[in-house]
Amino acid sequence: MALMMSVMAACGRPPAPETAWTPEIPRTWDADALHAFEVPLADPAQSPVHVPADYYYALPERPIYKSYPVYAPGREPDGYMEWIAAQPPEIVFDPATLQTEADWIAAGALVFEAPIAYDAIIRVADLRNPDLYARLHVPTTPDGIVPFARYVVLEPGKVALGNVACAMCHTRVLDDGRVVTGAQGNFPFDAVLGMTSLRGMPDGAAGFLNRLLFGAPWVSHPSVATTEALTGAETVEAFGAIPAGVLARQGTSLLHPPRVPDLIGLTDRRYLDSTGVNRHHGIGDVMRYAALNQGMDTLSQYGPFVPDSEDGRTRPAPGQGQFTGASSRYSEAQLYALGLYLYSLTPPPNPHQPSPITARGQEVFQRTGCATCHPPPLYTSNRLTPVDGFDVPDEALATDDIHPVGVGTDPALALTTRRGTGYYKVPSLKGVWYRGPFEHNGSVATLEDWFDPRRLRDDYVPTGYRGFRVERRAVPGHRFGLDLSNEDKAALIAFLKTL
Ligand code: HEC
Ligand code: HEC
Repeated sequence: MALMMSVMAACGRPPAPETAWTPEIPRTWDADALHAFEVPLADPAQSPVHVPADYYYALPERPIYKSYPVYAPGREPDGYMEWIAAQPPEIVFDPATLQTEADWIAAGALVFEAPIAYDAIIRVADLRNPDLYARLHVPTTPDGIVPFARYVVLEPGKVALGNVACAMCHTRVLDDGRVVTGAQGNFPFDAVLGMTSLRGMPDGAAGFLNRLLFGAPWVSHPSVATTEALTGAETVEAFGAIPAGVLARQGTSLLHPPRVPDLIGLTDRRYLDSTGVNRHHGIGDVMRYAALNQGMDTLSQYGPFVPDSEDGRTRPAPGQGQFTGASSRYSEAQLYALGLYLYSLTPPPNPHQPSPITARGQEVFQRTGCATCHPPPLYTSNRLTPVDGFDVPDEALATDDIHPVGVGTDPALALTTRRGTGYYKVPSLKGVWYRGPFEHNGSVATLEDWFDPRRLRDDYVPTGYRGFRVERRAVPGHRFGLDLSNEDKAALIAFLKTL
C-alpha cells in the first residue's frame, strides 16, 4: 500500500481515497449523558440513580465467542452436537480488525447475537427437548433452525446455550419462515422460562425474583404488592400466561408486561420503551440503553431501593450482581458496533402494495385525524401522551415533546412500574403488517382486533396478552377508528399494512 501511494504521488495523481473509517465512539457511562437520557418517573423522586462510572467500568468486558445455530428436535444434522463440541473456542469480535463502516456494522450483528449468559436461564437440554415444542409454539425456519439462541463453545469439548442475546427477544420468524432481525420478537420467552428455569421454584426464590424484576416499593397500586406476594407456582403460571411478542422485562410488571418493540426504524424514534422512559438523541443513547437494559438497571437506586440486592438497599460490589448481565458489561466498541447495526436494520419487502382500496384507506386515515398523532412519513408524532391519572408537570412541557391529551389506554404500566413515566409514546405505524400483538401490553393480536369496538367491553376476551388468571377484560382507550363502517375499516387496515 505504501509503495502504491508513493508510485501514485510520483505520477502526480492524488492518493487513493482512504477506505479506513475511524469511528467516533461516545462514552457510554457518562453521568451528564445518562441524566439527559432519562425522562423522570411519574413520581420524580423515584427516578433512577444509576451506578457511578467507576463501578460500571470496573466490570469485566464480555468476550464474544463464535457461535452456532440451534436446531429444533429432529432437525439437527447427524453428529451436530459432537461436531460443535470438537470446535475450539474462538473470540470473534475484535475491533482491531475493523476497517470500514460496513465492517463495524457486521461486527454489530455479532454483538446482537451474542449471549450475556451461558446455560443460565435456558439450557442446551431445554431447546433440544421435544416436550417444549409440543407444548409451546416455538417458531423455526424452514431448515429447522431456532434463530433466537445460539450454541457457544466456551472451553474445549463443552457446548453451552447462549442466553439473553438481543436476538433472543428481537427476532421474528414470519409465517413463511423468513427471519426478520430486529422485528417484534416471537420467541415465547416468558412461557419458556415458566417451563424451564422457573419450574418448581420455591416461594422464597419467587419473592426475591419478583422484587428484583418488578419491585417498585413506592407504588401503592395493588399489582405491585400482589406480584411480590406470588408463590413459586403462581409466578410460574404468571410467566406462562405471557404470549410471544410480549415480555415481562425487568422494571416493568409481571401483570402488565410490555409488548416487544420493533427495532427497525429506531433511528427516527425520539423515545424508547412504551413509556418513553429514555430519550434518544443519537447512537450514544442506544449504547446506554443496551448497557442499562442488559444488567445495569437492576443496580440503579430508585429512592432508597436497589432491585438487585439482598436487602433491597445495598448495592452488591462490582461483579457480584445476581441478575443476568449485572456482573459484566459490553465493551465500548461492542456497544458502538451494536448501535450502528441497529441503525442499519431495514424492513422486509412489503407484499401489501397500494391499490384502490388502500387509497380509500389513506383517505379514511386523513379524515379520521389519525395523522394528528401518526403523521407521515414516520407515522408517529414521536410525542408522549399522558395516561389517565397523571398530571403533566409544567417542567415536562418545556423539556419533552408532549401531546397533552391522553388516549385512555390502561395506565398500569405507565404508573406502577420502574419504567413508569406517566406517559405512553405514540408508536410508529410503519411495519404493522409484520408485527403484533399491538398496544403497549400487546393486548390484541391483530389490527382487526385493535379496531373492533367490542374490545371496550368488560366481557371481551383479549386476543393478545390477557393477564394472570384473567379470562375477560376490556382493552380500553384509543377509540379512534372504532366507529367506522366495515368498508372504511377494512380499507384503513389495508392502508396501514402498506406502511
Ligand atoms: C429478554 C428480552 C430482551 C432482550 C434480551 C433484549 N430486549 Fe430490547 N426490549 C425488550 C422489551 C420487552 C422491550 C420493551 C420494554 C418496554 O416497552 O418497556 C425492549 C425495548 C428495547 C428498545 C426500545 C425500542 C423502542 O422503540 O421502544 C431497544 C432500543 C432495545 N430493546 C434494544 C435491545 C438491544 C440492543 C438488546 C441487546 C443488547 C436488547 N434490546 C435485548 C426485550 C428484550
Ligand atoms: C391523540 C393521538 C392519537 C390519535 C389521534 C391516534 N392514535 Fe393511534 N396511538 C396513539 C397512542 C398513544 C398509541 C399507543 C397506545 C398504547 O400503547 O397504550 C397508539 C397506538 C396505535 C396503534 C397500535 C400500534 C402498536 O404498535 O401497538 C395503531 C395501529 C394505531 N394507533 C393506529 C391509529 C389510527 C389508524 C388512528 C386513526 C383512526 C389513530 N391511531 C389515531 C395515539 C393516537
